[in-house]
Amino acid sequence: MEPTFALNEAKVFDDFLDPQTFEELWEMMNVLQYQRTDAQNWLKVWTLADGAILRSSGWVADAPVWKLKNADPKALPAPPAMTKLLEKVRKTFVHYSGDTKINRVNLTPCVWPPKSSISWHRDGGGISDGRVGAFTFYVHKQWNCEWGGELMLSNLDEELGTVVFDNSIISEKLMAAGNGAWIAPKPNRLVMNPSNLFHKVAKSTEAAAPRLSIQGFLMST
Ligand SMILES: [Fe+2]
Repeated sequence: MEPTFALNEAKVFDDFLDPQTFEELWEMMNVLQYQRTDAQNWLKVWTLADGAILRSSGWVADAPVWKLKNADPKALPAPPAMTKLLEKVRKTFVHYSGDTKINRVNLTPCVWPPKSSISWHRDGGGISDGRVGAFTFYVHKQWNCEWGGELMLSNLDEELGTVVFDNSIISEKLMAAGNGAWIAPKPNRLVMNPSNLFHKVAKSTEAAAPRLSIQGFLMST
């Protein structure tokens, strides 16, 4: 599958899944159990102003079998549509990165309520779990250009560290350039990005529908 476009090293694939598989994933998003990302620990990449993002317990699949397993024994088994998403993401990543060493993929369904966002961060920054790539798949059925929620990308890819109550180092670096690119969360769109680039999700507006995404990481452990 050819990317619809590439931007700041991110590759974007529209109409990524066939309509039936997309519908099955949307139905799955309706029946999953969710809890707030800060229910047990405050994951500080979401600042106090970012809102209450909900996540389901995620699935992980390992080479060579690539069978999806859920950390929660009470969770629903992965529907066939999740396996189809996993397979297509893996093939697409290997095709475009040339990286054949990935041996683990995780996938986490997320619900972003109106007025939610995430701060500037790098997916691999300071994390030593072997992340080599990241992806986001959008599972809501519509998105309006006035709803916000865009994926924002910066060219900055240096390690800056994080200080929870003082982001001045990151802010000064990003503001020095003062520009970047954005990708709309279109339904049935997959965005694949290297794990070293700074990115964020812009705050969605009060009028926005729930922003439904499946977030994943490709790992070489
Ligand atoms: Fe991220």
